[in-house]
Amino acid sequence: MQENLMDKMVSLCKRRGFIFQSSEIYGGLASTWDYGSLGAELKKNLKEAWWRATVYERDDIEGLDAAILMHPATWNASGHVTSFKDTLVDCKGCKKRFKVESVKGKKCPECKGELTEARQFNLMLKTHLGSVEGEGSLTYLRPETAQGIFVNFQNVANSARRKIPFGIAQIGKAFRNEITTGNFTFRSREFEQMEIEFFVKPGDDEKWYKKWIDERFGWYISLGIRKENLRKRPHEKDELAHYAKACTDIEYKFPFGWSELEGIANRTDFDLKQHMDLSSKDLRYFDDGTKERYIPYVIEPSGGIDRSVLAFLVDSYREEKVRDEKRVVLGLDRRLAPVKTAVLPLLKKKPEIVKMAKGLTADLKKYFYTIGGKVVYDDTASIGRLYRRQDEIGTPYCITVDVKSLEDKKVTVRDRDTMKQDRVELANIREYLGDRFNKRKA
Ligand code: GAP
Repeated sequence: MQENLMDKMVSLCKRRGFIFQSSEIYGGLASTWDYGSLGAELKKNLKEAWWRATVYERDDIEGLDAAILMHPATWNASGHVTSFKDTLVDCKGCKKRFKVESVKGKKCPECKGELTEARQFNLMLKTHLGSVEGEGSLTYLRPETAQGIFVNFQNVANSARRKIPFGIAQIGKAFRNEITTGNFTFRSREFEQMEIEFFVKPGDDEKWYKKWIDERFGWYISLGIRKENLRKRPHEKDELAHYAKACTDIEYKFPFGWSELEGIANRTDFDLKQHMDLSSKDLRYFDDGTKERYIPYVIEPSGGIDRSVLAFLVDSYREEKVRDEKRVVLGLDRRLAPVKTAVLPLLKKKPEIVKMAKGLTADLKKYFYTIGGKVVYDDTASIGRLYRRQDEIGTPYCITVDVKSLEDKKVTVRDRDTMKQDRVELANIREYLGDRFNKRKA
């Protein structure tokens, strides 16, 4: 199944409205993706799970939502203007572009045509601010959200009265003019990151580096990624980014091979030092206790929302045989499932059943608003088909309303994974579902 799992996933994502090619009606825009109704829910749920684990469940992290556009000096300070580059060659025949390290010999790997000399290519996307296009107005769409955190280090520390060690967490868009594309959303030109910059006392950095690697590894497992599909890979010295003293990737075993989901880097005092130099502002931290002034070291767990969404989709996909029929299930954790509950009337010709089912849907919509999540009503097919539709998108519970429900005021709740059915009093349905969703949330 592994070989064609990606094809199946791409097709399911399009058919059911998880992910579409961007600008598809114009032939698409390479490596940019749009999230449909279910994809938007899944992505939102994933971000909420991260924010909850990072900001709400800890005492040492503050949230931030910085602008995508930043002063251009930021990117000189961060080193991205000079160091965020790929070395590329172009094929004179088919005009395709390759990273130099992916080409063996001097011929095009695809058409065997002649290649140009290697050239450096900056991965940042340029943009111009204001009405006059020129060097003065040039800036970049941020290639990482991290810099928005560094330039706000003092603002957050002072306004939230934080003492070191503490962190700042942010989710947001980042842009890179990626050359090697493919593998669906894995390498996109516009994507979202979930990043923490955790500020520590120099000397405490290695301890926190190890802690964060374990913490972040555990987060993926706690949300349902299978342990055998996840591994930690420390970087070799020659693959470290220009700002890092050490870095460990958390990799997922995608159908196309082990690939990075998140990197945990020890960025030392590189960024704050650079910003101090270029802005001439004193960004040192003053330790009240020891009366020392120092530039903190930074541990950075930096993950990709889009890559995580893809990993959770692939990891949860399964095909089963049920009474000689194929059943496709997305076994997503309840917290991530895009639809929490579907209400399905068994006899849509009976107005009383429809009325009861719609009443229940309206009630559950209100209820799930407080615990978070989407509830749907569907009566557009036979019950077998309706179940299959919901299994395929990972809906944890389906509730059917039948003729008997009119008399006994009970409905049938079917569990996605066990397919076990419980008859539950309508009056107790909120409690029944609440127990199940909250139990897993705790
Ligand atoms: N601030 C550090 C930083 O940006 P990175 O390893 O370049 O480090 C962090 O990126 C994470 O962002 C990656 O682990 C990956 O999940 C995600 N990411 C990076 N480039 C991406 C791309 N082109 N498409 C999708 N996700 C990407």
